[in-house]
Amino acid sequence: MTIKIDTIQLEMPVILAPMSGVTDMPFRRLVKRMGAGLVISEMIASQAMVRQVRQTMKMIEKSPEELPMAVQLAGCEPQVMAEAARLNEDLGAQIIDINMGCPVKKVVNGHAGSSLMRDEGLAARIIEATVKAVKVPVTLKMRTGWDDNSRNAPNLAKIAEDCGVKMITIHGRTRCQLYNGRADWAFIRRVKEAVKVPVIGNGDVISVEDATTLLEQSGADGVMVGRGCYGRPWFINQIGHYLKTGKHLPDPDMAIQHQTVKNHLDDILSHYGIATGIKIARKHVGWYSKGLNNSTDYRVAVNRVEDPPTMHQLIDDFYKPLI
Ligand SMILES: Cc1cc2nc3c(=O)[nH]c(=O)nc-3n(C[C@H](O)[C@H](O)[C@H](O)COP(=O)(O)O)c2cc1C
Repeated sequence: MTIKIDTIQLEMPVILAPMSGVTDMPFRRLVKRMGAGLVISEMIASQAMVRQVRQTMKMIEKSPEELPMAVQLAGCEPQVMAEAARLNEDLGAQIIDINMGCPVKKVVNGHAGSSLMRDEGLAARIIEATVKAVKVPVTLKMRTGWDDNSRNAPNLAKIAEDCGVKMITIHGRTRCQLYNGRADWAFIRRVKEAVKVPVIGNGDVISVEDATTLLEQSGADGVMVGRGCYGRPWFINQIGHYLKTGKHLPDPDMAIQHQTVKNHLDDILSHYGIATGIKIARKHVGWYSKGLNNSTDYRVAVNRVEDPPTMHQLIDDFYKPLI
């Protein structure tokens, strides 16, 4: 199973979901190194991109190892989205992904993210302007619709395809569901049947079996995983390996997990600097320990750490007895 996004071929049909506050460069690079078809930046507000806000520029920093990589843009003004896409193309983005799935009030109230699913005309103008602005492929990520009475993803997908979008990802929930209930993988099939471009299914994949069930129910060309990768940067590769070989790849042994956490911590610290990095590292370091012995007390301690040597010591003390 490979996926073609216009001229870009993904060797593995498993993609790391864009997640604000999670899929920064250190995490994307780690997941890509371990094996992922594609990684996508955190959502970038197109207005902030055009103004080249410092924090935004940090969010789009990329490493050569992640390439090809997609930058995801959110916004509700066609010309601003077009300009932001152009800037990102100049800065080396090989794919521009448009966010029409974000349910967060701040984004929706600004008529961006999933609120665009309620205005197909504006959605089309945004897609058209973005596609025209760049030579790289433009992709779209959305939900099934705004609410149960308006699950218009198949229609919007067709509109997007006609505007030149080269791949469409569907998170199988409506905006009004937020993250409640279950993702409706079967509904994604309606999108798959509406368009010719590759369709990626997303939502609630936390095991290899979930991924295969999603693919069976939806007929999608690939799968995107978000929260299932928390503390498991190897998970995407486990799915890809199974799809390719039919064989399960075990989790890395504890010695490798130990080293992975420590390297990830160092990458975060060097990307953000110590003061910001240590705060960002806490959640990742904690996630890695989920399900391991005595991890509750460890996570409490991790959340209080203020300096890198103490964090490294805590990690060593936690993992050494498990190796
Ligand atoms: C913390 C967090 C941040 C997210 N940020 C984004 C984002 O920036 N852009 C986007 O399109 N989706 C975002 N999402 C949605 C995910 O990409 C994905 O669609 C959703 O989590 C469902 O997939 P999952 O069940 O595999 O996590 C975010 C989700 C989470 C949990």
